[in-house]
Amino acid sequence: VGVLAAGIGGSFAWYWTSADLSTVGKVRFGNELAVPPLAPSTVDKDGTRVFDLRMQAGSTEFRDGAATPTWGFNGDHLGPTLRAERGERVKVRVRNTLDEASSVHWHGMHLPARMDGGPHQMVGAGSTWTPHWKVDQPASTLWYHPHPHGATEKHVQRGLAGMFLLDDENSGRLALPKTYGVDDLPVMVQDVTFDGAKFDHGHRFLANTGFLGDRTMVNGTLDPYAEVGDERVRLRLLNASTARIYTFGFDDDRAFDLVGTDGGLLAAPASMNRVQLSPGERAEVVVTMRPGERTVLRSYPWRDGNGWERRFNGGDDSFDVLQLRAAERLRPSPEVPGRLAADRGLELPDADDAVRSRHFELRRSGINGQPMAMDRIDETVTRGTTEVWTLRNGGDMTHNFHVHDVQFRVLDVNGKRPEPALRGRKDTVAVPMGATVRIALRFDGPSDPDVPYMYHCHLLSHEDDGMMGQFVVVEKGQRAGEVPDHAGH
Ligand code: C2O
Ligand code: CU
Repeated sequence: VGVLAAGIGGSFAWYWTSADLSTVGKVRFGNELAVPPLAPSTVDKDGTRVFDLRMQAGSTEFRDGAATPTWGFNGDHLGPTLRAERGERVKVRVRNTLDEASSVHWHGMHLPARMDGGPHQMVGAGSTWTPHWKVDQPASTLWYHPHPHGATEKHVQRGLAGMFLLDDENSGRLALPKTYGVDDLPVMVQDVTFDGAKFDHGHRFLANTGFLGDRTMVNGTLDPYAEVGDERVRLRLLNASTARIYTFGFDDDRAFDLVGTDGGLLAAPASMNRVQLSPGERAEVVVTMRPGERTVLRSYPWRDGNGWERRFNGGDDSFDVLQLRAAERLRPSPEVPGRLAADRGLELPDADDAVRSRHFELRRSGINGQPMAMDRIDETVTRGTTEVWTLRNGGDMTHNFHVHDVQFRVLDVNGKRPEPALRGRKDTVAVPMGATVRIALRFDGPSDPDVPYMYHCHLLSHEDDGMMGQFVVVEKGQRAGEVPDHAGH
């Protein structure tokens, strides 16, 4: 502790006493895991699948007799799971009934910039925004959440988040568990602290890393357990916390199969007993159960490549997340297929095709030395080209890096081949203190010189404070347009 604490400054004692989940409130597994409903949809005459999402204020009883003020989509807290097929046209009617402006960003989705739901597509209080696009990317576990500049953390913490699942021909054929809510479970993990009935969002690690709650909830359920009736269960893990990093594993250290990352299935399953997710990242894992057993999904201390436990972002804690209870008789499940991705492979860019490289220096105070400005385009990329971006965290604390619109390939971490969990399709990657991560990205979307996409740290208070930049995709030789300071407010 001494050595690492020296590197991160003074007030660590406060942190150990206020946010160490291993010593705070033992998890009792008294509540059955809530599974967000699948959002109903209608199909227009032209074949477009249409969803309705209403942002609303309400209250939720997380604990008996205590009504917590919360926000949700189509309900009091969190949102339904949207689901669509590759090749489909989708449209979402987003109605904001809150008394302040917000937005809805489709995290991980490949779509035109003006449909992206970033800070330039604000939905004012009382108004409706109706983005539409054609789903053109592999089956994956994506999610949606607000993105109002400077207030994303607050809006997500109050409960505005949901999953967006994509299917394709390949995923429909594969013998993976795929019955939603039965052997295919959304597992959205968030940390919370209560002050009486209310959420208390003031718990900050060294004031700077961000909020670290003292309890976890899954899909909005505290102390959750899930009954499992199948021999194999697929967990779609999403870190929807605003700063905490989780290193998921099971209490008996059993191996599980990692089958998918942020943007889709891996080429082949990878057997492991830990998978680390920083805020915004997803992992799909398949766990094999024995009849009648109980096993607990936990978060373990994070060890980096040097075997060090990294004491940041709550990464040193061990705590329970979700108990799985297997029935006495389990329906047999097929073996996890040895080959997962479709014939088209991972559809990831190749570094050899890169026509340009860029460098991003990640600091708490901003990226490449400046905080985000709504009316400044930081990078202009050419449609149809591949680039290599170097992400460097020179030292103040752990960050991560998320890029809108694309799924990228992680080329190397500190010059070394990435571990299996980083070899799939990624839209968010952790960049620990002192690390350099190189990624290859291909910008295939439609060009729009006037509407930027974002790249940013997904520790939400960092993003809110300006660890974000904007890029536009243009035609060859075209220049970036002008962006208004408060577009769409
Ligand atoms: Cu999930 Cu720009 O964010
Ligand atoms: Cu950060």
